[in-house]
Amino acid sequence: MESWLCICFIVLFIDEVSLEKVEGSVGNSAVLPCRYDGQLQDLTAHWRYNDIKNVYDIQAGKESAKEQHPDYTSRTLVFSHEFVKGNFSLKLVNLLLTDEGTYCCYVIDINYQQCTYLSVKETPRTTGTRSEEKAERMNHGLDIKANEIVALLIPLLSVIIPLFI
Ligand SMILES: *[C@@H]1O[C@H](CO)[C@@H](O)[C@H](O)[C@H]1NC(C)=O
Repeated sequence: MESWLCICFIVLFIDEVSLEKVEGSVGNSAVLPCRYDGQLQDLTAHWRYNDIKNVYDIQAGKESAKEQHPDYTSRTLVFSHEFVKGNFSLKLVNLLLTDEGTYCCYVIDINYQQCTYLSVKETPRTTGTRSEEKAERMNHGLDIKANEIVALLIPLLSVIIPLFI
């Protein structure tokens, strides 16, 4: 029973951790990574938002926004000179709060996929009060702590679990 619980716990954590996170703020831009290690020519890659909306298509090594969802009109940028290096990263500009969600890049020919969770925050006002700034810094500190704990927990659990099984 105990070991079963532990395994569940680990699977949940790994799932959380393996989804890369990118943070952006309203009006600014974010680069969503998609990088496959290898020399690649004329591949087809599809960028999708929450598995539904067409964000961008790269067709046989060429940029194509033909089928793009109107929400993304004039807000996407790919780096075509990077395609041969297996880099299909996408830049999303002029971010909106509604852009938050999971973006996946599917490289069809080689069956590769990379997903990233984009979170979009309100752009902090430049004239924020001292206490607001302080609260924000503290929040940030807590975020970092949580990440550190997760990073430590996984190797630790992988050592402990075999003892239970
Ligand atoms: C992919 O290309 C973009 C744009 O040139 C660059 O910012 C990014 O670092 C590249 N990613 C990798 C993993 O090389």
